[in-house]
Amino acid sequence: RNIRKAKPISHLRGSHDQLLYLIFCVFTFAFAFLASTATPTSNGLEEEAVGYGYAIRSVTVDRSGKSLSADLQLIKKSSVFGPDIQNLNLIASLETKDRLRVRITDANHQRWEIPSQIIPRPPNSPHRSLPENHHSSPGNLFISDRNSDLIFTVHNTTPFGFAVVRRSSGDTLFNTSPEGSDSGTFLIFKDQYLQLSSLLPADRSSLYGLGEHTRKSFKLTHNQILTMWNADIGSANLDVNLYGSQPFYIDVRSPDSDGRVPAGSTHGVLLLNSNGMDIVYAGDRITYKVIGGVLDLYFFAGPMPGMVIEQYTELIGRPAPMPYWSFGFHQCRYGYKNVYDVANVVAGYAKARIPLEVMWTDIDYMDGYKDFTLDPINFPLDKMRKFLNALHRNGQKYVVILDPGISVNKTYGTYVRGMQADIFIKRDGIPYLGSVWPGPVYFPDFVNPAAGIFWGNEIKLFRELIPVDGLWIDMNEISNFISSPPTPFSTLDDPPYKINNAGIRRPINEKTVPATSLHFNNMTEYNVHSLYGFLESKATNAALINVTGKRAFVLSRSTFVGSGKYAAHWTGDNAATWDDLAYTIPSILNFGLFGIPMVGADICGFSGNTTEELCRRWIQLGAFYPFARDHSEKYTIRQELYLWDSVAAAARKVLGLRYRLLPYFYTLMYEAHIKGIPIARPLFFSFPQDIKTYDINSQFLIGKGVMVSPVLKPGVVSVNAYFPAGNWFDLFNYSNSVSANPGKYTTLDAPSDHINVHVREGNILAMQGEAMTTERARKTPFQLLVVVSSSGNSSGDIFLG
Ligand code: GLC
Repeated sequence: RNIRKAKPISHLRGSHDQLLYLIFCVFTFAFAFLASTATPTSNGLEEEAVGYGYAIRSVTVDRSGKSLSADLQLIKKSSVFGPDIQNLNLIASLETKDRLRVRITDANHQRWEIPSQIIPRPPNSPHRSLPENHHSSPGNLFISDRNSDLIFTVHNTTPFGFAVVRRSSGDTLFNTSPEGSDSGTFLIFKDQYLQLSSLLPADRSSLYGLGEHTRKSFKLTHNQILTMWNADIGSANLDVNLYGSQPFYIDVRSPDSDGRVPAGSTHGVLLLNSNGMDIVYAGDRITYKVIGGVLDLYFFAGPMPGMVIEQYTELIGRPAPMPYWSFGFHQCRYGYKNVYDVANVVAGYAKARIPLEVMWTDIDYMDGYKDFTLDPINFPLDKMRKFLNALHRNGQKYVVILDPGISVNKTYGTYVRGMQADIFIKRDGIPYLGSVWPGPVYFPDFVNPAAGIFWGNEIKLFRELIPVDGLWIDMNEISNFISSPPTPFSTLDDPPYKINNAGIRRPINEKTVPATSLHFNNMTEYNVHSLYGFLESKATNAALINVTGKRAFVLSRSTFVGSGKYAAHWTGDNAATWDDLAYTIPSILNFGLFGIPMVGADICGFSGNTTEELCRRWIQLGAFYPFARDHSEKYTIRQELYLWDSVAAAARKVLGLRYRLLPYFYTLMYEAHIKGIPIARPLFFSFPQDIKTYDINSQFLIGKGVMVSPVLKPGVVSVNAYFPAGNWFDLFNYSNSVSANPGKYTTLDAPSDHINVHVREGNILAMQGEAMTTERARKTPFQLLVVVSSSGNSSGDIFLG
């Protein structure tokens, strides 16, 4: 259907086509030259890699010129990581003017792909209309659309390659030339090993994204392996795979030498694949090494950073709208002893006149760590109801934790109903037995729609017991305290290529559900592993909306592409250290890029004992996280903000400003919901033309014009902050302006009771008064802070939904 043979290059008409032709000639020449000089290095493929790859057998471009299908044939085999797939099909299509999709898969056999019921997306199946013996002899072929800035080209070289070019500047965004690749090829396609590699202009590319990892630097640094395989690994561990998989990056370009590429020109790249993978960012190359699925790449044209996220979330889904109250301050702790302990914390905040919006309880509230139960001794039903009533009467909210593991116990209703509904993940024909907090557990299979119904019913029953306002879903990587032995000779439990799990190439089965376990429709854990938290978020979100009729607040530890549609995220188990305080900024900014703008980190630190000074600096920063929650581990010292006078005073000051800014935060949430653009943003979102902003790790923006410059070191009372061009004003007292033209570093006073928060000229902020709850703050009069611009108009938005 609608397929025609592509025109030879010489048929192209018009000056634009001639220009493209010239570009292609340069590519072909460069490609042939580079291919002849390729020097493969290590990864086990080196012996056989030269000349390895695929050649084009035929190419067709559809009539619109916006979609291309190429049949590819293996030209040389390799023996490591299993047999090669002989025939591949590549489809490139401009799905919208800002989105190009390039999908490569087995031409003859269906492979695992994330079902479109899980992540909806336009269909894209191989063209099969060519007879087997059809041969065309294409030159370089391209697809483009006059409205689109993205041009896709396949190079009919041996091996073949492809490139994505920005039409307006001629900048190459993605280029699979094999030069310098560690295997001499850009494409390897085996059943359990897929490799794809692109050249990047190393001196002009600044990459951000690819999570979830804790990293010192927001900008990706070279010579890193970024592994994706959801795991219960605490976020205090640097550079290893953590709770979520987010195979998306943005590439912010610096200008080229001939001035064609403007500074800050940005595009995004998603590899939509749920399998375990290593993404190797080294030198001038990014290489994906994936252990299953298909290569399904999406390119987002931008060209501004915010536009990339807008285009990205158009595909993956816009972030969920969050309730107003979720922007208040939250207090949690693992280890609250009983309902009185919890009530005393609430009272402690009131007495200290520190706003507390949401009180949380961790697994302590449960009976034997069983979901949907209450400990009859320490958190008895009648006392809990009384406590919750008082909380609600005061305009405050309550959130509890849920873990996915359902205790195996025949006297436990949730377990009995789960068995009846037959919704648990299975291995060898019976529910897979793991072990988490309650001891032996089965895990609901959220791939199964019946598990969603089961889960929704349990939530409904629980809310009839106590009317919780939101839910916190933890341990959903899935975390398992035991590692079950692999099935002998199974390449699922023990795949040929070992991803760098936990930074030590740890077996993928360790501390989770084994890869040979089966989900709904015989989907393997191997394939759906990293989707679990996403699916649980979806089910939990639907359940809460169903029972409350209101926007849902769900906080999930594990995430995947598109989780922002259903849940907020916190960065997991950090440590109460100064380093961890600093790392929260890159982590939070990354989740904004991933379309999960409602994100925070455990304020004052989760594990280890915090200190008065650290906790004070942490609340000063944490008051400006989109999601602001103090949380700590059992057996650490208590860290509620009122426990130290200096922390309490700092908290009153910064939370006072946060609460005055609630209309601004809420408006940003709305903007995130309709456009995807993050609440907390890197400086280059507002100042893409200022290349000095690309390396900043310790400052960020809230919205477009409020900048937070925290102290991140002990014993320090000043901060060297970067100010992009313009006049900036202290948001606490509207004075002390910093004039920067061009951008400059300025040393600011940061006494122990102060954090620097500035607003830039040209902004109008909608603000209200301070109060102990968001409900009361919303009843105070509005104020508009108009920050007059020296050069034009000031503007701002407000959402009052
Ligand atoms: C996990 C969570 C942590 C929680 C603990 C106990 O470690 O990440 O936040 O306190 O489990 O439930």
